[in-house]
Amino acid sequence: MSNIEQTLSIIKPDAVERNLDNEIKEMFKKKGFSILKEKKIQIEKSEAEKFYKVHETKPFYDDLCNYLSSGPIVVMILEKENAVLGNRELMGATNPKDAQEGTIRKKYGISIDKNSVHGSDSIDNAKIEIDFFFKDWKFLKLLWDKVYALVIISFSLRSF
Ligand code: CMP
Repeated sequence: MSNIEQTLSIIKPDAVERNLDNEIKEMFKKKGFSILKEKKIQIEKSEAEKFYKVHETKPFYDDLCNYLSSGPIVVMILEKENAVLGNRELMGATNPKDAQEGTIRKKYGISIDKNSVHGSDSIDNAKIEIDFFFKDWKFLKLLWDKVYALVIISFSLRSF
């Protein structure tokens, strides 16, 4: 049975600054991910604080939020079978020093802070993180699916 999932990916400021966004997107596509939505944005520190709230008690929280809001980022909704795990495998270990060959962080990561990409760590967090950056996306997708279904039904009825 197919298990198509969506997950959120962020290409972080260190990678966007080095113009690596297209190379990283190609790595996703080569592994079979579809990029359903993407946008290049720069967020405020307050938004980074909300996004990384789960880390608020960690000693690196303030630096992390300063960093994510320090320059443009590319946020994407990725889709494929078992996308959450697949994305984490392709990203590699959080610290690029520990990442395996062939992973994004091994190839492009500079340090544990400047590790080039973020990816949702569970299906539940993927939903939360996708909503965070693409609030209206689910509603529009639902609407589009309904319109598409209505068009198909009306064409089928006409051909009777
Ligand atoms: P990311 O996957 O975006 O999730 C939280 C980020 O915190 C992580 O990548 C790292 O870039 C950053 N970070 C900084 N220091 C640490 C640390 N000691 N352990 C884990 N993550 C860290």
